[in-house]
Amino acid sequence: MSNIVKINKKIENFIKIIEVPGDKSLSIRWVLFSSLASGTSTARNLLMSEDVLAAIKAVKKLGIKVIINKNECKIFGKGIDGYKYKKNLKINAQNSGTFGRLILGLLVNSPEVIHLIGDKSLSQRDFRRVSEPLSKFGAKFKLKNNNFLPLKILGTSNLKPIKYIESRGSAQCKSSIIFASMRTEGTTTIKAKKSRNHTELLCKYLKLPIHVKNYKNFDEIKIKKVKKINTLNYNIPSDISSSAFFIVLTALSEKSELIIKNVNINPSRIGIITILKKMGVKITFKNKKTYKGERKADIKVISAKNIKAINCPPKLNSGAIDEFLVIFLVAAKAKGVSYFRNLGELNQKESPRLKWAETILRNLGVRTITTSDSIKIFGNPNLNLDFDKKIIIKNFLKDHRVFMTSLIAALSFGGKWVIHDKESINTSFPNFLKIIENLKKWQKEKIY
Ligand code: S3P
Repeated sequence: MSNIVKINKKIENFIKIIEVPGDKSLSIRWVLFSSLASGTSTARNLLMSEDVLAAIKAVKKLGIKVIINKNECKIFGKGIDGYKYKKNLKINAQNSGTFGRLILGLLVNSPEVIHLIGDKSLSQRDFRRVSEPLSKFGAKFKLKNNNFLPLKILGTSNLKPIKYIESRGSAQCKSSIIFASMRTEGTTTIKAKKSRNHTELLCKYLKLPIHVKNYKNFDEIKIKKVKKINTLNYNIPSDISSSAFFIVLTALSEKSELIIKNVNINPSRIGIITILKKMGVKITFKNKKTYKGERKADIKVISAKNIKAINCPPKLNSGAIDEFLVIFLVAAKAKGVSYFRNLGELNQKESPRLKWAETILRNLGVRTITTSDSIKIFGNPNLNLDFDKKIIIKNFLKDHRVFMTSLIAALSFGGKWVIHDKESINTSFPNFLKIIENLKKWQKEKIY
């Protein structure tokens, strides 16, 4: 089957209700917490994508039984010390920075050397950001060029609690340290720049010994050694990062309306909503509910008439970190110049995303000024490509979000697009193209 998608036509207007798959951050965390629980945990709507399957394969290698049956996954935890550490164990995190970094926190007491490898993209990403704090607990690391995968970790039974300042706003680093603290006698204190807080919320829901104090710009987290984790039955809400592509597609289409059901709207994840609302897009939450410490709702969005440029406040960055590529498409159609700054972390993702933003926007004929951590986008409210304007997007390290953003750009602005590496969607959103197809076969549904 071809791994290339060709788009030659803008999408027509649609009025639809859709569902996107389970949240990736929550799915990976559910796998890890359940693998340490005392007993059997069940998840429904677990994201069945390559990143989550990499986590499942790894806990199986660590001796934990997992059964997947249609939309249900069962993990048979053997307690907090239930992992089996075989000699020369190799764990493959594939494309997943989240899984690769989080699992290291749980391996800090491994009596055997464990090898962590990843795919080409993950092997170019920084792992010192976790090996450095985890070394302070007493674990030993050997990384390629002191920074990269493949790496080796050797744990210790003599872990020491640490005090750590996490200054990047990385939930992956914060969570990795929280996991290591769960294995460590004494109290670990983390002063963490704001970032998504799913790990803390799950710890609280599971009644683990965690204390979080929220300050304006950072959180102070104190966590003690965990003796037992109860089983965790979880119905995973849908992923706002996957919803983002459809929110933007609707905002940029004419006379369209979309409802996305049952999405996780944790306040630390809804940066895209705040940013797009400031730009004049009409988005509302319906059926708001609290679920196991998380918030969820249906998201309603309608086509935007007049999009305003934004000078994006950096305090919104961490809550929208995975959504910026697609947010930039909205800025491309805004009246005026939008400015996004302090975004160096975007170049630390599955591909250097600021560079890819520039490539996609320039292909659209939109002027940009990009530095190593910022982008200015000179919007054009009449942006519309000639039907025979050819654009080829390839060699983007199979970054799923570059693929999906390019496809949304093609459907929103026209032109003749050839987008490579379709299989990249399997990382986070395997049925992305199916939902697009369904929207194309639009039919009017009564909503609300
Ligand atoms: C994630 C944290 C973010 C995000 C990633 C998922 C998580 O990364 O980009 O897709 O689940 O903790 P950083 O923590 O490195 O910013």
